[in-house]
Amino acid sequence: DPPWARRHPHGPAVMRRLDQLLANLGYCSRREARTWIEDGRVTVGGKNADDAGRKAAEADVRVDGEPLDHPAGLLLLLHKPTGLVCSHEEREGPNVYSLLPERWRRRHPVVTSVGRLDKDTSGLLLLTDQSALVHRLTSPRHKVPKVYRATVDRDLSPDLGPVFASGTWTLPGETDPCAPAVLELVGPREARVTLTEGRYHQVRRMFAVHGATVLTLHRERFGDLSLDALPPGRWRELPLDTFDRPAAAGRDS
Ligand code: URA
Repeated sequence: DPPWARRHPHGPAVMRRLDQLLANLGYCSRREARTWIEDGRVTVGGKNADDAGRKAAEADVRVDGEPLDHPAGLLLLLHKPTGLVCSHEEREGPNVYSLLPERWRRRHPVVTSVGRLDKDTSGLLLLTDQSALVHRLTSPRHKVPKVYRATVDRDLSPDLGPVFASGTWTLPGETDPCAPAVLELVGPREARVTLTEGRYHQVRRMFAVHGATVLTLHRERFGDLSLDALPPGRWRELPLDTFDRPAAAGRDS
């Protein structure tokens, strides 16, 4: 298995306070949860709950007769459109989380992106509330391959491939050389680049060093995952154990 496909155990079912459970899953505030419970909207094991402080296992709880919304966590594959940022900071502009259902945007832990794509970059972006997974998939140690398709403003030299692949050249202002990257020319001004790390504006800066400005940038793959026919702005759910399985899902290469 590649190192990033290593197994990690999911814990046993936890008992949590009802008000905390509802608040953390984005239904309402803890205060509102008390009202919901008084109003008879919440059941545990089929019986009306009457105490916001009572502890229950997620699987036993219903709200308005419905099972809880993804109590174990979320892992989403999003086709990020250009024009949205991956930051939660409102002042950085419209963000990718605005594409998600309201309730998911109120969850704790928060749903966050696995690494970031620039505002002007489109393509495959993972979103999750599993911080251990974010850490594992973004750690340079784990070398998850990410494939980008770039168009640039001038013809690319075939000499660029060996430079990107060398593992010895350094971006301006940095001291660590870039890990070996694969460059495949798909046209005179179009290339596919495979990176195993994710430095700030990395693809744009790699081309800029060689005098080329990136005009469009799109991420086609993340590990074994690809967008397939998913349109921009849409997401699909992935099983939480996607990266625990030997052939890290997708399997469409
Ligand atoms: N490299 C970039 O320059 N931008 C991205 O969004 C991703 C990789």
